[in-house]
Amino acid sequence: MYSILKKALFCLTPETAHELSMDGSSALARLGLMKLMPKPTAQKPVSVFGLEFPNAVGLAAGLDKNGDYIDALGAFGFGFIEVGTVTPKPQEGNPKPRLFRIPEKDAIINRMGFNNKGVDYLVERIKRTKYEGLIGVNIGKNKVTPEEEAVNDYLYCLNKVYEVADYIVVNLSSPNTPGLRNLQFGEPLVQLIKALKQRQNELDKEHEHTPILIKIAPDLSDDEVKQLAKTFNEEKVEGVVATNTTVSRDAVEGYKHGKEVGGLSGSPVREQANHVLKLFREQLDESTPIIGVGGVFSPDEAEEKIQLGADLVQIYSGLIYEGPSLIKKSIERLAK
Ligand code: FNR
Repeated sequence: MYSILKKALFCLTPETAHELSMDGSSALARLGLMKLMPKPTAQKPVSVFGLEFPNAVGLAAGLDKNGDYIDALGAFGFGFIEVGTVTPKPQEGNPKPRLFRIPEKDAIINRMGFNNKGVDYLVERIKRTKYEGLIGVNIGKNKVTPEEEAVNDYLYCLNKVYEVADYIVVNLSSPNTPGLRNLQFGEPLVQLIKALKQRQNELDKEHEHTPILIKIAPDLSDDEVKQLAKTFNEEKVEGVVATNTTVSRDAVEGYKHGKEVGGLSGSPVREQANHVLKLFREQLDESTPIIGVGGVFSPDEAEEKIQLGADLVQIYSGLIYEGPSLIKKSIERLAK
């Protein structure tokens, strides 16, 4: 069924296909028809971050940046949905075209640039959802905010989403916001974590505790991963999302769109993401959970992430190429 729909969608530009399929799914959800989607025959709950996830398969950030499609996406069976990246103020993102498929390689390149309707809009959307799984909110900085002031944008978003999010992800790894990935290193990283922790402690006096995770890039050397893990252990970071898209182009060299600027996702990022995941698992305190993401296109590849040390798995590009049955099959595999 999805293979027919995919043929039609892949005739459109990627961004039009995205909007059409998401608006269509939302309309079906409003009519109650998404309930007809086949449900996983079994699912195994996972308890991490002090939260109970109905199953270990989640939606990665970036597909539902504004929380507009949570109920529709929930019908695919996801145990958790990460919305965002959201920024303090709404922003347009980069000029179009900014999203490219490389079907020969099961890959996507995007340079969306955190296009989103702003954190206030997202919070209202979350308050209205009927979705019963968990919702993570991925937060970032506005493009116009200077790198030295990035911490203020993260704190602003943290304050706004703390009450409505089940967990929060600090995105330090998008290649499409200039300077963002520099925050993964040295003193700026330590200062940012300390500031977030301090605000979290204050917020915990009024609200239920919400764990804060950090999302990192796959383009880190082994030494950089070790240094990061050391900092995360020292600063008691509660969890890691490994990984975002890659800036490497080795796997798509010579293919149409292979030279487009942005982050590469899908099959070509799998090996790098798995390497970083494995290394983080070895270096991080045992009690620090990891969400593994990057290149999951089959239940085997979802299982591989768990074997490498992930507690939970996320999917984005695999959903575009393989369709919603990938989610159901992966949930069933991880229930075994
Ligand atoms: C993303 N991703 C992403 N990540 C993030 O933290 N914030 C974001 O806003 C986005 N936006 C985004 C847009 C598009 C079009 C894609 C394809 C990806 C990265 C995503 O969450 C994930 O980390 C990577 O795509 C790797 O996983 P997959 O796609 O290989 O399953």
